[in-house]
Amino acid sequence: MFEGMNEEQARKKILEEVAEYCNEFHNTKKEYKEGDRISYASRVYDSDEMVNLVDSSLEFWLTSGRYTAEFEKEFAKYIGVKFCSLVNSGSSANLVAFMTLTSPSLGDRRVKRGDEVITVAAGFPTTVAPIIQYGAVPVFVDVTIPQYNIDVNMLEEAYSEGKTKAVMIAHTLGNPFDLGAVKAFCDKHDIWLIEDNCDALGSQYKINGETKFTGGVGDIGTSSFYPPHHMTMGEGGAVYTNDPILNKIARSFRDWGRDCVCVSGQDNMCGHRFDRQYGELPLGYDHKYVYSHFGYNLKATDMQAAVGCAQLKKFPNFVKKRRENYAYLYNALKPLEDEGKLILPIPCENSDPSWFGFLITCNPDKGVKRNDVVKFLEDRGVQTRMLFAGNLTKHPCFDEMRKTGEGYRIVGDLKNTDRIMNDSFWIGVYPGMDEPRLKYMAESIRKACE
Ligand SMILES: Cc1ncc(COP(=O)(O)O)c(C=O)c1O
Repeated sequence: MFEGMNEEQARKKILEEVAEYCNEFHNTKKEYKEGDRISYASRVYDSDEMVNLVDSSLEFWLTSGRYTAEFEKEFAKYIGVKFCSLVNSGSSANLVAFMTLTSPSLGDRRVKRGDEVITVAAGFPTTVAPIIQYGAVPVFVDVTIPQYNIDVNMLEEAYSEGKTKAVMIAHTLGNPFDLGAVKAFCDKHDIWLIEDNCDALGSQYKINGETKFTGGVGDIGTSSFYPPHHMTMGEGGAVYTNDPILNKIARSFRDWGRDCVCVSGQDNMCGHRFDRQYGELPLGYDHKYVYSHFGYNLKATDMQAAVGCAQLKKFPNFVKKRRENYAYLYNALKPLEDEGKLILPIPCENSDPSWFGFLITCNPDKGVKRNDVVKFLEDRGVQTRMLFAGNLTKHPCFDEMRKTGEGYRIVGDLKNTDRIMNDSFWIGVYPGMDEPRLKYMAESIRKACE
C-alpha cells in the first residue's frame, strides 16, 4: 500500500482517504421529513475534524502534545485572554477553576473550608459540586425570568463580611448574566469571580465601553466541549484566565498538583531541576516530582485537541447560526407570548448571546402546562430539555444537607428557581438546525398551546 513512499507521503495518502471517507459516509445531511426526530443539539463537523483526529492518532503521541498547544493558544486568542489550559471536561474545568482559588499561595484571598461562595440553584450541578466537595458553603440566590440568571439585587444580602470569597455562576444557556453588576460587586469586596462559560462560548458583553467575550471578564472562565455544546471534541473542557499566577495554579491542579511546569515529555526547562529546596524535602530533590497542591490528572488527549483545533476554525459561523435560529424561534413564538401563554428568553442588557438553547417558561394559569407541552413535543419527535437541575437544592444529592440545614445557605427565596423547575423547558438552536426543522418546532409549540 505504501510502496516507495516515505512516512510523510504515506500519511498524506491516508489522510486524503480519510477525507474522502468522511465526505462519503458522514456528510450526508438528510432532508427533513415531518416526524423525523429533531434533536436539541448535535455535533457539526466535516472532514477537517476527522482528518485532524486521524493525523493525531497516526502520530500516536496520545497525551497532550502539539495539537493541545495549538488549541490552547488559539482558544485563548479567540476569548481574548492570556492563558488557557485544556482539560477533559467542563466539569473538570469547574473543578480546576474552583480549586485554584483554594491555593495557599493566594494568601488571605484564598477560599478556605467553611468560606462562602455565592451561586445559583437553577443550573448545572457541577458548577456547584466543587464548592461542596471542598467543604466551602454555596450560598444560593434566586434568578430572574426571562434572563434565567442571578438576581443581582440579592448580591449584597448574600454577602458575609470575611466569609464570602467568590461568586461562581454560569451564563445560562448562552445568555450572559449581568456581568457589569456582578464584576462591580466582586471588585468592591475584593472577591473572585468564576464565569462558568460552558453554555455560552461566543457570547459577548459590553463592559466599561469594551465588548468582551464571556469567560474573559471574571478571574477565571471555563468551557465544555461535550458534543451538545457550542463546539465539541467528544469530551473536553478549558480553564482560562488573564492572571499568570492563577494560570500556574490551575495547571498545577490539572497536572497532579505538581510544582514543575514542563509539558509532557519535557525535562528541566527552567534549568533548575536538581538545585532547589522545596518544603522539607532534601536540597536538589527532582523538581519534576515536587507537589505544591493536592491535585488531579484532568488533562485531555491530543486527539481531542486535534478535533477542537478544526472546530475552532468553524466557530464564528456556528455562533452566527445560533443567533439566527434564536431570532427565528423568537419571532415565530412571539404571538404566544403576547397572549400570555409563554415567556420567551431575552438577552441580558449590554449582551449579544451565543445561545445554547431556546428556553421557554409556560403559563399554567393560561392552561399551558410544561409537562403536557413537553410530552406533546416529544411525541412529535421534537427533543426537549429541562434547565438541567431546575432547583439543585431539591435533588437527592441534597437530601442529607437538607435534613440538617447545614453546608449551604439560601438567601431570600428561590421562587423563580422553583418556577423554572416546574414550568420551563428548552429546545435546540444548534447550527445544524435548518428552517424546516425550526418551522416544525414552532408549529408544534403553537399546537401544544392550543
Ligand atoms: C453550565 C454547565 N457547566 C458545566 C457543565 C459540565 O460540562 P461537561 O459535560 O463537559 O462536564 C455543563 C454541561 O452541560 C453545563 O451546562
